[in-house]
Amino acid sequence: MSDTAEKPHLVILATGGTIAGSAADDTATTGYQAGALGIDVLVAAVPEVRDFAQITGEQLASLDSKDMSDEVWLKLSRRVNELLAKEDVDGIVITHGTDTLEETAYFLNLTVQSKKPVVLTGAMRPATAISADGPMNLLNAVRLAASPQSFDRGVLVCLNDQIDSARHVTKTNTTSLDTFKSPLGPLGCMNDGRPTFYNRVDRRHAGDTEFEVRNLTELPYVKIIYGHAGDDALFVDAAIKAGVRGLIYAGTGNGSIHKAAEAALARAVKAGLIVVRSTRTGSGTVIPAEQSYSEAGFLEGDSLNPQKCRILLQLALTRTTDLRQIQQMFYEY
Ligand code: SIN
Repeated sequence: MSDTAEKPHLVILATGGTIAGSAADDTATTGYQAGALGIDVLVAAVPEVRDFAQITGEQLASLDSKDMSDEVWLKLSRRVNELLAKEDVDGIVITHGTDTLEETAYFLNLTVQSKKPVVLTGAMRPATAISADGPMNLLNAVRLAASPQSFDRGVLVCLNDQIDSARHVTKTNTTSLDTFKSPLGPLGCMNDGRPTFYNRVDRRHAGDTEFEVRNLTELPYVKIIYGHAGDDALFVDAAIKAGVRGLIYAGTGNGSIHKAAEAALARAVKAGLIVVRSTRTGSGTVIPAEQSYSEAGFLEGDSLNPQKCRILLQLALTRTTDLRQIQQMFYEY
């Protein structure tokens, strides 16, 4: 089928990753070069995408996504906003490495000022592998972004026939194709290529967000500290000294903090840092716990994992340093 004006116009923004990975032999699933193939090669491998949309491709970056940066996020968010503001662009598909895909998806979920569909996809096997998963993932992402059902759902993630929300999804397995999971539940699935939704996320998302990053060249410096038995004050004190603006503590259980780190984090709040308790458990909501935590001014990261707490706190700090307002953002987004 050829492109026609009736089909939605989607722009595919390529950023690299294993979906664009190239290995020396077709059995290799490690030791390949991520992001080696350009957008034209990816689209040429799946001509069927043009059955569902008019496609324009752009190479925004060629990264192994472990190297994702605030700079690329700002560039990507600006480009997505620019494109979606055009009347003749109906949606965006972003090809991305799986390692930090959930973070980019959440960053866009908080900074895209449009309700038009934005879908991220990637692959666990390089494009050159036997049974590469990238081509079907790309086709499904295009079908999802082309569907009117995807309007105002927030930024979506689509791999392995599953549809997830940028807010909930996380990579859970180092190598399996079935790696993306949402502890609070997926939104739906691709049934023989047809999007089927079962759930909606009741939190503010793309098209209803107060975070405007168009004119920013950098984001506030926020770090994550991972709690563990035998923890101490080393990294917290180093963060205070380095001028970090905020800390996410990936605590044990319900965001619990080792007493040696807790005293240091209380010093951090006194020094003007924002401290958010998250959890290393992989699921669940961090809720108020010890009185000493609230007395120290620690905030709760709700059900966001530590890496997404970091993004929300970065963006929150572009608006305010007021503890109550920032806590409210963790309940709203
Ligand atoms: C990457 O994240 O860029 C490499 C790994 C992958 O895409 O699966």
